[in-house]
Amino acid sequence: MLDIQKIRADFPILSQKVNGRPLVYFDNGATSQKPKVVIDAISKYYEEYNANIHRGVHTLSQLATDAYEVSRKKIQDHINAKFSHEVIFTSGTTHAINMVASGISTMIKAGDEVLVSALEHHSNIVPWQMLCERTGAFLKVIPMNEKGELVLSEYDKLLSDKTKIVAVNHISNALGTINPIQYLIEKAHQYGAAILIDGAQATPHLKPDVQALDCDFYVFSGHKICGPTGVGILYGKEEWLNKLQPFQGGGEMIATVSFEKTTYAELPHKLEAGTPNIEGGIVLGTAIDYLNEIGFENIATYEQELLDYATSKLIQIEGLKIYGTATNKTSVISFNVAKIHPYDIGTIIDKLGIAVRTGHHCAQPIMDYYSIPGTIRASFAFYNTKEEIDIFVDALIKAVSMLS
Ligand code: ALA
Repeated sequence: MLDIQKIRADFPILSQKVNGRPLVYFDNGATSQKPKVVIDAISKYYEEYNANIHRGVHTLSQLATDAYEVSRKKIQDHINAKFSHEVIFTSGTTHAINMVASGISTMIKAGDEVLVSALEHHSNIVPWQMLCERTGAFLKVIPMNEKGELVLSEYDKLLSDKTKIVAVNHISNALGTINPIQYLIEKAHQYGAAILIDGAQATPHLKPDVQALDCDFYVFSGHKICGPTGVGILYGKEEWLNKLQPFQGGGEMIATVSFEKTTYAELPHKLEAGTPNIEGGIVLGTAIDYLNEIGFENIATYEQELLDYATSKLIQIEGLKIYGTATNKTSVISFNVAKIHPYDIGTIIDKLGIAVRTGHHCAQPIMDYYSIPGTIRASFAFYNTKEEIDIFVDALIKAVSMLS
């Protein structure tokens, strides 16, 4: 059992009033709030040991470098990567996906196929389209059904010897569907294709084991797991990362440079050109420690309770339709009420202190599937409560009656 009031006290922002009402923050799919321990770790870095890493012999540089590498090791342990150099710091999930889509391009030729799913965020569609445009490969799409699940029989049919890489999310940001990634990974490998899992929406809710999954790439963002913005992770199997062309050239990613020829550094540095987000990298480790102390099993159990509670209350509202009713889903509810535009409801409930995301959630193909412009999305975290859900439902009823 989680002590939610104690947990909430860790998050200074949650005691804020917004528009004169206690904040109800249900936009966790967009970004999570930060506990005090994370905020303090950011200040501590800048107050006590701010310096560039991997570049100096001086004391502060050593301290910062050690802290950065300790964090890399924590992330390695957290996702159970085999080697710490398989953990590459990026600026976020989008950067990580672009690194793979760009870095793999020399291995893709005209006529090859890249598979994504109908449930992807734009950041797991557009980089692959750009790859296809550059190489003459074809983008194929694993379709979804009305419940917001992938149609696996179609996936099986789409796979062939032409498939070079499959890119799918672990959890859909717009609908909350938890995809059967173990199956998707095994099948891709049967055809010799690589597979990238976008874990941006999964890592707030579960702890991925990349070795057990046997995925080739797993990517996620720091800011969705209580860490700072501007930092994320590209996990890749050593053999794959070694094969990837660097996305960026620059300082610290080289072994030797001359005007005739440059050779690249070993992993992870080959893929980490330029001064990184040092504070972000260090503090991501702090955020992961914090979440592990709460425990991902506790988080999952409690969030399921919130999901069930909210779903049972929302379906009582006349005209409300939930999009995404997969058997396996996480604490995300996307919905519309009658023909009311999601933006109008979002604006009214904001005045009542409630934060939700409205719109297409950077997943326009999903909205096209349902022939809607967008939805209202409430996404819950372990620090949310049933009382907040009650406030949200009451506000929603009020908004709907004003707009009907
Ligand atoms: N991808 C984030 C979301 O789903 C921003 O809201």
